[in-house]
Amino acid sequence: MSGSAASWPPGQERPSDQEARFSWSHPSPWLRGALVRNYPLRKLLPDREPAYVSSLLYAMGVLALAGLVVAVLSGALIALGGVSFWHTNSFGAFMNSVHFWSVQLFFLFMAVHFIFNFFIMAWRGGRGWTWITGVLCFILGILTSFTGFLMMTNWDSQWIAQQAKDAFNALGLGAIWNVMDAGQQFTLHVVLTVTLLVLVVTLHLGLVRRRGVVPPPGEEALEVPDLTDGQVRAAGQ
Ligand code: HEM
Repeated sequence: MSGSAASWPPGQERPSDQEARFSWSHPSPWLRGALVRNYPLRKLLPDREPAYVSSLLYAMGVLALAGLVVAVLSGALIALGGVSFWHTNSFGAFMNSVHFWSVQLFFLFMAVHFIFNFFIMAWRGGRGWTWITGVLCFILGILTSFTGFLMMTNWDSQWIAQQAKDAFNALGLGAIWNVMDAGQQFTLHVVLTVTLLVLVVTLHLGLVRRRGVVPPPGEEALEVPDLTDGQVRAAGQ
């Protein structure tokens, strides 16, 4: 692990080089050092952002996030009620619609977000992994929606499963992932795919916080420079 004495945050005991090296049996000094260096509170909870962030196009990521939060909460509620809840109960049917429309908005905002990020080349300035985790969010979002459409327990989902099964069988996946088995799709949708999606979105947001929001091309000078610990101390932050 690197990090000179000068770059170690004030008030923190600097681990010895031996301690700071990564070890599977004793990972905490390494992990603690990495978190303190990459995620100081001024980055996790910033109170100022560069002027270019004040634009609707830069709000698309957070709007996609809002759509995802509403989808997860409404989905948890209808899943608790069980499959007959959203067909036979007016509150269940309403929450089902909230779930459906929040997913539509999630995809709309995510699409505008990544198209905008493509055109401003948002992977600049060490943001390559932010782009890669974004692509994973998109793929996991599609998988989550697909398993969701397969477990609606109506004629529509039965038709989708009938069509999809041939493709899955042709790929040799049908024996493990049986799209005609609504119970399996329920577990995949509610437990597996959505958990992976939330984890990758968390990683994506963590990377955005670490690097700061990307400036438009040619406007790199507007980016707020990362402060050294000496500057933070001098500013009293
Ligand atoms: C689950 C869906 C997603 C959510 C909730 C999300 C959320 C966010 C948020 C809140 C930001 C920070 C500021 C901004 O909006 O520009 C951001 C930045 C970024 N996102 Fe996403 N994102 C998602 C999907 C994607 C996808 C599909 C891609 C690309 C394929 C992508 C690529 C990026 C990149 C490169 C940045 C860094 C740009 C910057 O610093 O502003 N994201 N994302």
